[in-house]
Amino acid sequence: MNHFTSRNGELFCEQVAVTDIARQVGTPFYLYSKATLTRHFQAFDAAFASIKHLTCFAVKSCSNIAILNLFAGLGGGADIVSGGELYRTLRAGVDPQRIIYSGVGKTEAELRYAIESQILLFNIESGQELERLQRVAASMGVTAPVSFRINPDVDPQTHAYISTGLAKNKFGIPIAEALALYLQAEGMEHIAVKGVSCHIGSQLTLIAPFIEALHKIKIFVEKLADNGIVIQYIDLGGGVGITYDAEQPPHPQEYGEAIIKELQGVDAILILEPGRVLVGNAGILVTEVQYTKTNQGIDKAKKFVVVDAAMNDLTRPSLYGAYHAIVPVRNTGAAHEVVDIVGPICETGDFLAKDRELPVVEQGDLLAVMSAGAYGFSMSSNYNSRPRVAEVLVDGEHFHIIRQRETFPDLVTGEQIP
Ligand code: LLP
Repeated sequence: MNHFTSRNGELFCEQVAVTDIARQVGTPFYLYSKATLTRHFQAFDAAFASIKHLTCFAVKSCSNIAILNLFAGLGGGADIVSGGELYRTLRAGVDPQRIIYSGVGKTEAELRYAIESQILLFNIESGQELERLQRVAASMGVTAPVSFRINPDVDPQTHAYISTGLAKNKFGIPIAEALALYLQAEGMEHIAVKGVSCHIGSQLTLIAPFIEALHKIKIFVEKLADNGIVIQYIDLGGGVGITYDAEQPPHPQEYGEAIIKELQGVDAILILEPGRVLVGNAGILVTEVQYTKTNQGIDKAKKFVVVDAAMNDLTRPSLYGAYHAIVPVRNTGAAHEVVDIVGPICETGDFLAKDRELPVVEQGDLLAVMSAGAYGFSMSSNYNSRPRVAEVLVDGEHFHIIRQRETFPDLVTGEQIP
């Protein structure tokens, strides 16, 4: 459920007409609904209300500090994967004791910054990372709190690029090797062993892989206990999918119930790292039609709608072949036709949709690319020297620009002619 609705054929975000925002902000822009973000966070968090837990929003999915601040105000923590994300998260006012740090390649400087910031947990992904963290913590005269990210070798049945919990993926520590690492860590003066974590993939539409992974983690936690290691946290990562098209992912309530059932008898605080499920359907990308054109082939004609948003603004269609629903902001009731919706970038791979049925549109019409709140702006770039677009947050009858559109001077900031 989200707060993007059609009223008399006109798309609204909460109480604001999308067209009004476009008139004032220009296009393209990302548009988020505060009520939807709030509702999604609360629905997810409520699913775990009966157990000790911490919901750490996956910052990579949507990193604007206004959104991080909103979730922090609702009691959320943050799952970060870089020094830059740590900086944002702190700027947004997230309590450091609610920040966990994942990722396979943390640099020494990043580890130092996170130790200084007194975050809750480091999710360690290799023996070398453990040794580096011990060295950095020792040089600072402190103890670093860690979980180890276990790779449970479970197939999440999702897109290959976003499967992370299979042995062939670069993530985590094979479950068979993990005990030795825990025992090594127990002997390290500047490491405090606190938990176990895993993250098997993203956009999962089935509950079974999560439960399979959790089951393996549970058995592993018992093995740790047999070896005298008692942990306080179990982190199940993120990954619950959303509906982009016809997918039927589990409702957070159903997901929560299955996990709580599997966790019965385990005394640990559950950490979750949801990203997409909180923000995906709380954001859209609004773009304006620049041109329509038809390329006449030998056997058939191909119609293109050229818009002002491109693969640098929303990379998911180009990168993963991902589907995003695209609808006119004002429905004119025009007949439908099949088109490719493409951007201005000089690559054939620059498209938002292919062979898509769309009401006939004209130059100047606005289109809404739906379900763009997750991995939308956060994956955008300046390719083709395109300034990154504005981000806008609607709250009831008002809207706020939460990130200004970049300017041409922004594009060359930091560049120098020697
Ligand atoms: N925790 C860790 C350690 C992760 O690597 C991820 C996502 C999450 C949590 C959040 O997963 P979520 O709840 O959002 O599924 N760019 C891709 C998605 C990449 C996901 C990477 N890891 C896309 O646009 O589909």
